[in-house]
Amino acid sequence: MNVPRKIGFHNITLDEVGKPLTYGSEAHLSREYLQKEKELLWPRVWQMAGRLEDIPKVGDFFTYEIADDSIIVVRSAPDRIKAFHNVCPHRGRRLVNTPCERNGACGTKRGFVCGFHGWTFDLEGRNTYILDRQDWQGSLNEPRTSLSEVKVDTWGGWIWINMDPECMSLREFLEPAASILDAFQFEKMRYKWRQWVVYPANWKTSLEAFMEPYHVAGTHPQFLKYGQYYAYSKAYGMHGVSGFDERDKSMQMAQSSSISRVGLGPDPRISTYELARENYETVNFAASTETLVKAAKRLVDELPDGTPAQEVVRHWLASAKADDAARGVIWPEISPQNMREAGLAWSLFPNQNILQGVTFALCYRVRPHGDDPDKCIFESYALERFPEGQEPKTEWVYAEPTAEKWGSVLVQDFSNMEWVQKGMKSHGFRGSLPNPHQEQKVINFHRVLASYMQGRGAPKLLDT
Ligand code: FES
Ligand SMILES: [Fe+2]
Repeated sequence: MNVPRKIGFHNITLDEVGKPLTYGSEAHLSREYLQKEKELLWPRVWQMAGRLEDIPKVGDFFTYEIADDSIIVVRSAPDRIKAFHNVCPHRGRRLVNTPCERNGACGTKRGFVCGFHGWTFDLEGRNTYILDRQDWQGSLNEPRTSLSEVKVDTWGGWIWINMDPECMSLREFLEPAASILDAFQFEKMRYKWRQWVVYPANWKTSLEAFMEPYHVAGTHPQFLKYGQYYAYSKAYGMHGVSGFDERDKSMQMAQSSSISRVGLGPDPRISTYELARENYETVNFAASTETLVKAAKRLVDELPDGTPAQEVVRHWLASAKADDAARGVIWPEISPQNMREAGLAWSLFPNQNILQGVTFALCYRVRPHGDDPDKCIFESYALERFPEGQEPKTEWVYAEPTAEKWGSVLVQDFSNMEWVQKGMKSHGFRGSLPNPHQEQKVINFHRVLASYMQGRGAPKLLDT
């Protein structure tokens, strides 16, 4: 008989072959769990702190706020990024004030001066001034007086930090996702817009709402007019991907699991345009590009009636690629196999989601809000490849969760998250039952989270 067994602090039950079947809701609801994350999760994982474009010049810095920690990320030399705990080694004043929990602080400095007693540090974190140093009678040395360093590395144009001095490399942490996604060259994309909100749900509840397309039929039924939304999902190490799982094998093609794909309907010239337009206009101009939509609109003029779907997609992408090239946006070469494997959207453990196209990406990051398990800092931003020098100037904008600010599709997602958070508190809720095919990313997320929350750190081997 299948007797579910519980493992550790994070309450996952496994079936008889050891596959996670369900998990309790304490990870989403418990204040104690949120406190434990401060010790067992956040100080032990690589976290995306920002993008290289946030700090283009020497001296540019921002702080990354996570739970009770604040990290200063600074460009200390043209080709060097450093990260430090935002705390003065003298008596512990936060070195840079961070009035906003989302934005922390940012600016440009030649060094950091503590506001309490004036200790001063250069961009490399070395102490350069201590008032009345002789009072210590020689007992102050560099390890005692310099800033506490934090590991920092970059991938895809993002800057990542890790507070654990013994951590594995960023590349090792991200693999195999990094190798599958390298070809998209996210480092050549730039912000198109960026928004955030304090949202009334746990950070995991909110993140999970964007991990799987299984919810499309129930939450975004308008999309069913335009495409097939049956999804697969797959764990890759600590991370996971989902994509569209075309039931009709005759439709199999490199793009079929991605966002830029053929539409559903008798005339693929028309339906492909409708799908691309819907993705673009209702997902806050982030899940496609103007180039792709305009090229799709021309399909009906450029191709004869009866053109097979595969040819419609081939023509569409080739003409969009040519249009972009003419304005100085060069598409990266991505092999059909790589494209298929990259699918639709990735979850990078612990708290980053990326829905990618060849020339754009829609990204999410979610963090806890204070000590409240029912709130999170929810952020979303769009990246796109722009002609050099034509990148828009953007800032983080606080945006209430309305259709006007976020687009009608994200608002449909927002309309679930809060109610999942409330619903999971019901005495009648027996624990989540994620779909093993379509919601494997959610399952894998909890499996990896359980490993950290049980004090085991990164899981060594995953039977994926
Ligand atoms: S706490 Fe920073 S100089 Fe004293
Ligand atoms: Fe959604």
